Amino acid sequence: MKMTMQEAGVQSQKISGQEESARLIPAECLLHGTFLGHQSQDGRIECPKCAANKAKRDALETGIPFRFIAKSWNDFVTSRAEHETALNTAKGYAENFDEALQEGAGLVFLGKVGTGKTHLACAIANHIRANGRKVLYSTVRHAVGSIKNTWSRDSHVSEAEVLGKFFAPDLLILDEVGVQFGSEADRIVLYDIIDGRYGRVRPTIIASNLSLDGLQRAIGLRSMDRMREKGQLILFNWKSHRQ
Ligand SMILES: Nc1ncnc2c1ncn2[C@@H]1O[C@H](COP(=O)(O)OP(=O)(O)O)[C@@H](O)[C@H]1O
Ligand SMILES: [Mg+2]
Ligand SMILES: [Zn+2]
Repeated sequence: MKMTMQEAGVQSQKISGQEESARLIPAECLLHGTFLGHQSQDGRIECPKCAANKAKRDALETGIPFRFIAKSWNDFVTSRAEHETALNTAKGYAENFDEALQEGAGLVFLGKVGTGKTHLACAIANHIRANGRKVLYSTVRHAVGSIKNTWSRDSHVSEAEVLGKFFAPDLLILDEVGVQFGSEADRIVLYDIIDGRYGRVRPTIIASNLSLDGLQRAIGLRSMDRMREKGQLILFNWKSHRQ
């Protein structure tokens, strides 16, 4: 039986609308030439090559090391109960990130090299950036160094600008706080970052292979207080994954 559009009513119009959006439509990209794409609700047809490039650029901008850009919970092997605890805490944190964001609650990951601290920190980052949150990963050495570099007379950027980069993201990961970290000047710069984020109620994750005491000595009491106030501590108390 044939129906006119009016007889078929709204329902049929919806169905044909869905069929329309599922169909591949030829379109033209200025960079990549003719392509087939899906039309989005706002009527645009996105070039798949441009979309892939944008995803790559977004990933690069997070600073997450290439090795960790696709890491998730699913790749994290839990061969003992403590692994499970660390994994579940990280997962819970990422899944309830809105709450962490309301409180500015961060995490401190402590444990020997190779125990999966960077892996789980980046898994959190990857989870929340898939939900549109902005993340920035940096080693603490790079973060502090990039701010100290602005003190040089021929720096093209101001200290405030670079500090702003560390204040802006919803989540900042400061990785690899080791024994070698920490002249008094380094500690002051690090405190500026941590305290600036604290004031803006934005969470920070710190990962270190030091003991709790060692971390406190390295980053200083004031930074430690900021991290402790709302943050959770996860101990990665097992041997390197590679052993
Ligand atoms: N439990 C685990 N399951 C799977 N891979 C792991 C696990 N722990 C560590 N790895 C892997 O081992 C390597 C070292 O881990 P990493 O996160 O860099 O350790 P850390 O930051 O604690 O030094 C990485 O490639 C990481 O993906
Ligand atoms: Mg690491
Ligand atoms: Zn294109």
